[in-house]
Amino acid sequence: MSNHRIAVIPGDGIGPEIVAEARKVLDAAGKKFGFTLEYQELLMGGASIDAYGVPLTEETIRAAKDSEAVLMGSIGGDAKTSPWYKLEPQKRPEAGLLGIRKALNLFANLRPAYLYEELKGACPLREDIIGDGFDMMIMRELTGGLYFGERKTVEENGVRKAIDTLTYDENEIRRIAKRGFDIARKRRKKVTSVDKANVLDSSRLWRAVVEEVHAEYPDVELEHMLVDNCAMQLVRDPKQFDVILTENMFGDILSDEASMVTGSIGMLASASLNETKFGLYEPSHGSAPDIAGKDIANPIATILSAAMMLRFSLDLDEAADAIERAVKQVLKDGYRTGDILSEGFTKVGCRQMGDLIRDRV
Ligand code: IPM
Ligand code: MG
Repeated sequence: MSNHRIAVIPGDGIGPEIVAEARKVLDAAGKKFGFTLEYQELLMGGASIDAYGVPLTEETIRAAKDSEAVLMGSIGGDAKTSPWYKLEPQKRPEAGLLGIRKALNLFANLRPAYLYEELKGACPLREDIIGDGFDMMIMRELTGGLYFGERKTVEENGVRKAIDTLTYDENEIRRIAKRGFDIARKRRKKVTSVDKANVLDSSRLWRAVVEEVHAEYPDVELEHMLVDNCAMQLVRDPKQFDVILTENMFGDILSDEASMVTGSIGMLASASLNETKFGLYEPSHGSAPDIAGKDIANPIATILSAAMMLRFSLDLDEAADAIERAVKQVLKDGYRTGDILSEGFTKVGCRQMGDLIRDRV
């Protein structure tokens, strides 16, 4: 019986509810496949601000590094009403998330967007566009670009001015491109590299380095696409995509769009990896403070993120398969949370959705 040490960051908003359901499902998978998970709960984001005045502590970083993987819910609150947003930007909840991504060197963010046969009714696209469905992997660079470049707000001659900097060096581009091609090799062998090379220097370097890396992967097809066109193609013909490889901010935006064409952002899992087996696993969606504590959030993205954790960080592929199958089965059996509900299905809450999936693992 193997035992694994997992750090858990429930976070803010719906975070604690959805993480509780993921743990329930993980424990059931452990029972069935003969492993145990030992959880250490850590504070980050708003919860950490409330306890320590900062969104990320050295202690949280150290404990995360000492674990085999981190399972996270979501962080952040309502920017209009929460006192967290009265703090300076570097002390707000989101700074904690960016800080841990950087501290753990989690440069490769995998966001699989998959249209479940059973959820075709929740997909906002026309049936002829959906066809046999689609299945893409968004590979988002996560520790560079605009998110981590120098930024400041100044006043010059009475005029306020804000500056953000978009920087990439070739090593940062090369390592994410390699990951992208490696993953494409295990899928349908196509990489769409997305940039804005008609305007940005960082994109022209991105394109050049991706081409260089491609030379080592002649069996994988590579195409380049401008980000504005990609945003359009995602709703015009999402079937054309296998792996979408892109920089940090483009990936942030395109992954939300991709999740919506799968029916709901409540379904989109994610894994953030470094050069080792270590990873941080979190749903791609936010903390949805408006529905927090009401037992109506969709826990599936977090449960699928937990399955990714078993697969990528713990090599427990069988258990990961079982969780993914259980999610499919629950959808087939007609259960839906509010965000993916369409006529003729049974509406359930967050906890019940967790129970139903656990029972099918
Ligand atoms: C995401 C989120 C974060 C991001 C926010 C909360 C900082 O939108 O994980 O996609 O922009 O990376
Ligand atoms: Mg986002």
